Amino acid sequence: MKTHSDTARRDWRVARAPHQLPLVGHALLMARRPLDFLASLPAVGDLVQLRIGTKPAYLPCHPELVQQVLLNARVYDTGGPVKEKARSILGNGLITSDWADHRRQRRMMQPAFHPARIAAYAAVMEEECAGHAGIWRSGQPVDVGDAMQALTARVTARALFSTDMAPHSVAEIQRNLPVVVRGAYRQAVDPTGLLARLPLAANRAFDTALGRLHALIDGIIRDYRRSDGDRGDLLSALLAARDDEDGGALSDQEVHDQVMTLLLAGVETTASALTWAWYLLARHPEAEARLHAEVDEVLGGRPPAYADVPRLAYTQRIFTETLRLYPPAWMFTRMTTESTDLGGHRLPAGTDVLVSPYVIHRMPELFARPLAFDPDRWLPERAKDVARGSYLPFGAGSRKCIGDVFGMTEATLALAALASRWRLRPVPGTRVKPRAEMSLTAGPLPMLPEPR
Ligand code: HEM
Repeated sequence: MKTHSDTARRDWRVARAPHQLPLVGHALLMARRPLDFLASLPAVGDLVQLRIGTKPAYLPCHPELVQQVLLNARVYDTGGPVKEKARSILGNGLITSDWADHRRQRRMMQPAFHPARIAAYAAVMEEECAGHAGIWRSGQPVDVGDAMQALTARVTARALFSTDMAPHSVAEIQRNLPVVVRGAYRQAVDPTGLLARLPLAANRAFDTALGRLHALIDGIIRDYRRSDGDRGDLLSALLAARDDEDGGALSDQEVHDQVMTLLLAGVETTASALTWAWYLLARHPEAEARLHAEVDEVLGGRPPAYADVPRLAYTQRIFTETLRLYPPAWMFTRMTTESTDLGGHRLPAGTDVLVSPYVIHRMPELFARPLAFDPDRWLPERAKDVARGSYLPFGAGSRKCIGDVFGMTEATLALAALASRWRLRPVPGTRVKPRAEMSLTAGPLPMLPEPR
């Protein structure tokens, strides 16, 4: 990747976002049309100040400024009101822990995502993806979002808790996780903080689903503690983890919080992106035809295996390009721990900084024809022209997604397994509008499977 041409510049354009209203600032725009609003801001400046209510927040709209934020996790730490609410659901895991604790947690978690272990998780992915390709029926509509969510929930649950996990526990996760994800999002974006306390059916469903997940995870951890030995799964890796520096292990509560974090971070993200990939493929028959040609040539009719992934190069480019257009983590937040300088502008301690891959990925200065779906822009000879810091579906720096290889492997196997047997046609009349929720979802997306 080359460096953005004007790295040395110091004349950053720092500006205020337009359309600010008294008292609420940009809160209504952010609630109603966050994607359009945020994507309009690079035209205004390299660093744009907006106001959520009366509090200012800053959106860096230049890859170099984004890098400055993401590569300095001590000063731009996790924080903000959304993170506080997430902590009450996720506990203190990788996503919610602050800088000092995060470093220890990440050291201990990293071995669980070592390539040697990914190979073991991939065995689960192979089985689940091939199994899923067998449940669709010709001409019977499927909601692709739900189908992908079910697939990734099963894959993640089984990668966490080994292949001999009781089927009812996998089903329990599959059932309760979407309720928790939806409820967590509703609570996170509620500015009053009161919503969660109202006696609403949705709150009761959320509390029940969350309680079930907590109880299930505790039960599984207790079981594992009773029998020693590495089952090759993620949970075994977490229980065996030792800190290089002080030799300490993770407590049961810490393991619990990491498991919740992995479920919430890993399932919906991959599912949303896979859903967008099917949507894009149906709209781009030439890309779909090349996908079919590749899977036919590499697989010759058999289900895909982990060893095939490097040869499924076009399949991977489809997913890479999908993550550019529809990055599931469309925005994430940081808060400054001390007064600092960004783009020549002084940010006091406690300032909210918003990082939006969605915004950066759609800047015409960074990607030619940014709205076009062009998987070949990721051919090595073209990808080298992509400026550093302009492609961030997995974030960057010390908090970069720990599951990036897991997610890419899972998505490649899922696309290959399903596309080798099916093509998905949109149900006529379906209108899709991106929803910027916990992740960037397509909403209901009914499609008709046609056997190939
Ligand atoms: C296509 C799929 C995925 C996307 C787009 C994605 C995106 C991201 C992004 C952008 C971050 C950084 C957020 C920040 O800097 O605040 C992140 C962090 C994280 N992701 Fe993913 N993710 C994906 C799949 C997964 C999977 C499959 C897992 C686990 C199995 C996972 C687990 C995590 C965890 C634990 C973190 C926190 C890492 C840390 O702070 O050290 N993700 N993810």
